[in-house]
Amino acid sequence: MKVLNTKNELISLLENYKKEGKKIGFVPTMGALHEGHLSLVKESKKQSDITVVSIFVNPTQFNDPEDLKRYPRTLEKDLELLKPENCDVVFAPSVEEIYPEPDTRKFDFGYLETVMEGAKRPGHFNGVGQVVSRLFDIIKPHKAFFGMKDFQQIAIIRNMVHQLHYNIEIISCPIIREENGLAKSSRNMLLDEDHKKNAPHIYATLKKAKELVSQKNVSEIKQWISDEINNNPYLETEYVEIVDEMTLQVTKEWEEKGNKVVCVAVYAGKIRLIDNIVL
Ligand code: PAF
Repeated sequence: MKVLNTKNELISLLENYKKEGKKIGFVPTMGALHEGHLSLVKESKKQSDITVVSIFVNPTQFNDPEDLKRYPRTLEKDLELLKPENCDVVFAPSVEEIYPEPDTRKFDFGYLETVMEGAKRPGHFNGVGQVVSRLFDIIKPHKAFFGMKDFQQIAIIRNMVHQLHYNIEIISCPIIREENGLAKSSRNMLLDEDHKKNAPHIYATLKKAKELVSQKNVSEIKQWISDEINNNPYLETEYVEIVDEMTLQVTKEWEEKGNKVVCVAVYAGKIRLIDNIVL
């Protein structure tokens, strides 16, 4: 497994692979790797000849400086986890390497950035667009792999790929959960014992809600989810939304066509967790 820190080294290595006709799979991460990330690496290994994983905590996507400061950074452990997966290349650049000068680009994701994460974390998706487009420009992968936990992020990335005419296939992969149902997330390692014990209540509620859709209308079910989560003293919902899987349009009636996804953001103490379930 090659570990590189500079764009130039990475570009020349990948040029050689591409000359040999090898297909490049790319898994962008911010490190603090867990089984969710490793499932993306496994999928990339299945679908590509060479798998590149980037590890870069991107400052431009954090709208809260405290969140950026406390984001876990565990490079040595990450590399240990990637080796047994036979990951081919790890790209772990510095902030200066990715942003030699500040990125002033402003993306317009239209409606997609006005709901849920876009509404609650202003500037977040612009930062995601900045870093992912920079990484795509450097790596020029054939395919890039993203987890469904960040469901809205996938819609944003697909939109960016369309806007910037990238010839990159975006592959979305299922959420990986702990045995107790909690969606795997790098932020889980920041939870204290009490919050860790109670956080699985989020997914338990989403599962119950799925069973209740035939008995309640859309606004009743959103209220029910919110009450059910907020009744737990360790959890507080920031939003509960039900949207169309493809367009992210907010669902008002069950009769609207298309698959629906229930999305939540929940504070477990200071730690903000997101999760979703396809109905
Ligand atoms: O999903 C993430 O971890 C990040 O948003 C990403 C895609 C690696 C960009 O920094």
